[in-house]
Amino acid sequence: MKKKLMGLLLSAAMVLGLVAGCGGGSQTSGGSDTQSGTKVEDNGGDVQVGIVLPTKDEPRWLQDQKQFEQILGDAGFTNQVLFSQGSSATEKTNVETLISKGIKVLIICAQDGAAASAAVEEARDAGVKVIAYDRLITGTDAVDYYVTFDSFAVGQAQGQYLIDNAPSGSNIPLYLYAGAATDNNAFIFFEGAWSVLQPKIADGTFKIANSSEAEALQDKNELSRDEIGKIIGQITTDWDFNVAKSKAEAHLTAAGSDVKGDVLVLAPNDGTSRSIADVFATDKDISSYVITGQDSEKASVQYIIDGKQSMTVFKDTRTLAADSVAMAVDILDGKEPATDSTYNNEKIDVPAKQTAIVVVTKDNVKEALVDSGYYEASDFTGLE
Ligand code: BGC
Repeated sequence: MKKKLMGLLLSAAMVLGLVAGCGGGSQTSGGSDTQSGTKVEDNGGDVQVGIVLPTKDEPRWLQDQKQFEQILGDAGFTNQVLFSQGSSATEKTNVETLISKGIKVLIICAQDGAAASAAVEEARDAGVKVIAYDRLITGTDAVDYYVTFDSFAVGQAQGQYLIDNAPSGSNIPLYLYAGAATDNNAFIFFEGAWSVLQPKIADGTFKIANSSEAEALQDKNELSRDEIGKIIGQITTDWDFNVAKSKAEAHLTAAGSDVKGDVLVLAPNDGTSRSIADVFATDKDISSYVITGQDSEKASVQYIIDGKQSMTVFKDTRTLAADSVAMAVDILDGKEPATDSTYNNEKIDVPAKQTAIVVVTKDNVKEALVDSGYYEASDFTGLE
């Protein structure tokens, strides 16, 4: 085309069965949205499981909220979901609110992995078990477990997709973008992508278009955290659509004709991918682009169907939420939760449970996202 574009599913039902079998649940709570989240109906102030998510402004985290409320609510566990809205201070207040409501387990996806350590230390001091959700909390021993997708595999899949769908030839321009430097995942995603892209850069197949820091390191396959940090410092989107858009605009304005034409774009997630794709789609000197994403947000699924985004990575939030709830149930039951790996958080090795990811393109979008029951076909137009 011109402007060519280009696991293990632990079913909620299984977890529901498991949870229901464990008993231990008092009245389900749920309820109305407040500015900072979902409010528990009055049940004596007692909440068993507290959940803190980073922001309501990205569809990704609303998917997680929906799964938690469904799984925990159906199982009869009192729970409350609060959003930090991009602020570590709000996150800390949220944790304190949940501690004051008597939570036994905190499931938290940190806004800023390092800053969240103070909040989880408070939780630990109050006798609460802490499950880091999706994003690791660093520099503290107050994280009991980590439930995550395989983030290295996410980055690898994005990089491999660019390689497999690159135009033929050499010196193909490669634009690099990354997530927020405060998110440990941003480092792992980039590390995974770099592990497969770097040999193609070093042998002259691809040419980095927008990062002098990455160019300076292009002969090195394994980068230190500091080195990745330097690259991210240059190409970060902060996980923010507007930052992504203005960076892409600035890069294309500065780009010479040697990095225009048929190009490749490593975009770290769906929201930033749509913003960047919109910019690349309107540049008259870009004849085609291949662009990555992740999260399988509805808007990006539509972009993929429409040929405006090339791929996304499906991270099934049903599985992640179900795994966290299964862990919480074990904790409430006095049992040791099952884990399959460990992640070092610069202080301790945190026992972790990892979930596999699935690459989604136009070819398998229906099978992966509609036939699996994640979305309805009617959520999209033009889905064959
Ligand atoms: C998550 C991604 C998400 C990003 C921005 C990451 O930590 O793993 O799924 O797109 O944060 O919110």
